Amino acid sequence: MRKINRRSFLTASAAALALSHLKGCAITNAIQKTGLKDAYGADFLIGTAISNHTLETQNSELLGLIDREFNTITAENCMKSGEIQPSQGNWDWALADRFINFGVEHKKTIVGHALVWHSQVPGDFFVDANDNQISRDELIRRMDTHIQTLMERYQGKVSIWDVVNEAIDEDQGWRQSPWYEIFGSAEYMERAFHLAHEMEPDAHLLYNDYNMHNPGKRSFLVDVIRDYKRRGVPMNAIGLQGHVGLDFPNLTEFERSIEAYAAEGMRIHITEMDVDALPVAWEHTGAEISALEEYAEELDPYRDGLPAAIEQQLTDRYVEMFEMFIRHRNKIDRVTTWGTYDGESWKNDFPVQGRTNYPLLFDRSRQRKPAYYAVADLGSQTR
Ligand code: XIL
Repeated sequence: MRKINRRSFLTASAAALALSHLKGCAITNAIQKTGLKDAYGADFLIGTAISNHTLETQNSELLGLIDREFNTITAENCMKSGEIQPSQGNWDWALADRFINFGVEHKKTIVGHALVWHSQVPGDFFVDANDNQISRDELIRRMDTHIQTLMERYQGKVSIWDVVNEAIDEDQGWRQSPWYEIFGSAEYMERAFHLAHEMEPDAHLLYNDYNMHNPGKRSFLVDVIRDYKRRGVPMNAIGLQGHVGLDFPNLTEFERSIEAYAAEGMRIHITEMDVDALPVAWEHTGAEISALEEYAEELDPYRDGLPAAIEQQLTDRYVEMFEMFIRHRNKIDRVTTWGTYDGESWKNDFPVQGRTNYPLLFDRSRQRKPAYYAVADLGSQTR
């Protein structure tokens, strides 16, 4: 199976070699000058997602931090179809161009996210001028045009593409999205992979999804992988998003999924990791606004800071996850956190808006958190 082929891998390996004599606490000093990417060296790439806000403001301190700490970058929002082609035929390249230019200039492995997804789609994507649902042929035309135009613009610059995002619905099989319904089957997904491969034959092509610990989802996807392999659909890797909580999900199941996909010949990418430190809010997300207000205190308990005990739980959770990644470093190409610092995480607004969450490795002042040092130390101990 093809491994990713990039110049940045060499840069990371050279830095790792230079650090190879460092153990334990010594990494803490070394890290001041280098970053997490160097602690993990050739184990796997270490990445972050860059937000629209960062691309708009071009905050040089934050971009410097990203450059120092990470060797791979994902566009958090700016390459999604609803943003880059907000209406049919109208392309808005401004932020994506900035994202790509930053990656090229700093020799990062660039991840394109995402070509086909049911969410953050332009309002007019699935309907015609009269607001009627488009035909299968028209969907194919729009999908092909979207993939071709986007991939052509950044040809030779994006080495990993999330080709299809979230097409499987827990353990219920294919998600009944407009993609599925208008196409009349899940074949839109393989068409997207074939086209992406034609456009960029050397790119590493991913299927990306959440809740990958779910055994039903796992076995459904394993069947898809086998079927694709048999029929030559060019899918190289599986992206496990990795949005976890302090005690959710069961990591044994998560690990089984890593093993199961790898056993089918897939490379593994952890594509969107973060650790939600707040109480689970799912039961309340569908509630009336008035009811939500009632829960506000209870659901947003750490507005004035994270208590030490919870900070420790967060660190332990990161350690548990990274220990698992290290165990499978021969299968894993990349671990990316979904954002860089707590102040800019989507988890402040999802699934409840306006909370104060602590899901990342850098705090609101963009300082390294205890979880950062624990993860960096783990990486340094692998050699
Ligand atoms: C999220 C972004 O982080 C938010 O800013 C945006 O409002 C919604 O989407 N799975 C994915 C990502 O594949 O694209 C999502 O990103 C998070 C869940």
